Amino acid sequence: MSTGYRGAAIDALRTGEPEAKARAAHAMAEVWRKGLREPGPGTVPDRPARPARPVLTRPGDMPKRRALTTRAGQIALLHAFAHIEFNAIDLACDMVARFDGMPPAFYGDWIGVAGDEARHFQMLRRRLQELGADYGDLPAHDGLWQAADDTRDDLLARLAVVPLVLEARGLDVTPAMIARLERAGDHDSVAILEVIYREEIGHVAAGSRWFAHVCEQRGLDPAPTWRTVVRERFKGDLKPPFNDTARDAAGLPSAFYADLNPLPSA
Ligand SMILES: [Fe+2]
Ligand SMILES: [Fe+2]
Repeated sequence: MSTGYRGAAIDALRTGEPEAKARAAHAMAEVWRKGLREPGPGTVPDRPARPARPVLTRPGDMPKRRALTTRAGQIALLHAFAHIEFNAIDLACDMVARFDGMPPAFYGDWIGVAGDEARHFQMLRRRLQELGADYGDLPAHDGLWQAADDTRDDLLARLAVVPLVLEARGLDVTPAMIARLERAGDHDSVAILEVIYREEIGHVAAGSRWFAHVCEQRGLDPAPTWRTVVRERFKGDLKPPFNDTARDAAGLPSAFYADLNPLPSA
């Protein structure tokens, strides 16, 4: 008896142990690959299960990052990325489980994203282990889930904030991190971040596509709607510089975000 893809998403959300959560996301992708299109029953948890470690802190309480030429600095950077990917598993599973009534392709897209995020997390965790560390060794912050939770009532807002603000920000910052690791000679970590960077463009593209779909259903114009929703529902700032090339490739043109937070005139 299958629990259906939605039941499988809820299983992943209710699993706290990191490797088991990643495996549960892959199991959901397997349910979908087998062609099972029944969502299945279940209640979406208010908050996904998390492991006892990492200890979650407020973003401002995070220790300062060390230079990437030190092993401690490499570990801190990879740990921060691993934590983002671990959260991203839950964000994609929550998208699948929480919002019903969408076309099958919507669920297929976010199930695929969840599988990618689980693989991203596992690659980063293996790399941390190669460096003598592990996920959970350092504190981490809870900002990603909080931003998602603030949009749990509305798919349009969730798409505006999670893929189109948070994942798009990943496209902005990852190339600089890759360059820093390259300069520090950490080619194994570079190879992992390059895979992640490439696949994250696809995640933002899925966000753009489904945001446009929901806008069309509601008779809304995507660019101004996105700007309004982000102002209302996202507490942080949009921080330039933006990676216009990658954002364009993901169907998020600068008309969406260019002057949302005008740079203070110097
Ligand atoms: Fe990812
Ligand atoms: Fe992603």
